[in-house]
Amino acid sequence: MKVLLSGAAGSIGRALTLGLVDRGHEIVGFDRVPQPEGHVGPWYTGDCADPDAVAEVFDEEHFDAVVHMAGHPGEASLPDSLTSHVVTTAALLDAMVEHDVTRIVYGGSNHAVGRTPRTELLGIDVPPRPDTFYGVSKVAAEALMSLYADRYGIDAVSCRIGSFLERPETVRHLATWLSPDDCVRMVDAALTATAPGFAVLYGISDNTRAWWDLEPGRALGYEPQDDAEDFLSSVRPGPSDEAEAGHVGGPYATAEFERPALDRSS
Ligand SMILES: NC(=O)c1ccc[n+]([C@@H]2O[C@H](COP(=O)([O-])OP(=O)(O)OC[C@H]3O[C@@H](n4cnc5c(N)ncnc54)[C@H](O)[C@@H]3O)[C@@H](O)[C@H]2O)c1
Repeated sequence: MKVLLSGAAGSIGRALTLGLVDRGHEIVGFDRVPQPEGHVGPWYTGDCADPDAVAEVFDEEHFDAVVHMAGHPGEASLPDSLTSHVVTTAALLDAMVEHDVTRIVYGGSNHAVGRTPRTELLGIDVPPRPDTFYGVSKVAAEALMSLYADRYGIDAVSCRIGSFLERPETVRHLATWLSPDDCVRMVDAALTATAPGFAVLYGISDNTRAWWDLEPGRALGYEPQDDAEDFLSSVRPGPSDEAEAGHVGGPYATAEFERPALDRSS
């Protein structure tokens, strides 16, 4: 498939570029920073929150699908979070509708349900329960994709990623880790699943300690192969492990992240 990959210069974007090309996809990179060294394929530099910049890319090339990974992967003020995650998604969705591109795979986050207390197994049927303004914006991005799925028949898969890292570093990561290779497997499956409509999956590896349901991903063809447990000997317990284990969002669900929604400093 010919895929527009937003956020292609980021940590997930770079891993996906290599992995998806290996799997036979053609990747067109889009990011607000220039093409990183080693990127293979066409590249567009622009702000994904700017609908004109996005429209220019769609005017140049035809895509079979979009993988949307552009966005700040952490907490920020509410307006900044909404721009980074909702406005960028809106700009892509509008361009997709205009150009008849019918599939988007989204870098969603567990923080959309981060305030959900830890249960035996976290399904995808829990209501939205964000832990931060970042989480609020991920909920809103999913809502927008759901709207476009209903209105325009777009297939939209939100991958609620846990912790994308080369290897797990904390006790929480032993449950939430997503390996780079599994990330590629996940996105490839979400790109090629038959008619998923609007769908959600949890983006983690096949971790022994996982308590997020992998079945919604498996139903779309995502078969994770890695396990954080293989790195157990290099993970050291930390003082905040217990507090972080109480909710899906870990540290983001603790008081440390409580702050006003609007930044009054400027
Ligand atoms: N890394 C994780 O563990 C994790 C977990 C959950 C969700 N996610 C989500 O996955 C996505 C990618 O995360 P990442 O870890 O690769 O982040 P990253 O910061 O490494 O990469 C993000 C990339 O997006 C680009 N970008 C940001 N805003 C942009 C904009 N408006 N227009 C164009 N480019 C823009 C940045 O320049 C950067 O290259 C994010 O949406 C993040 O919220 C990541």
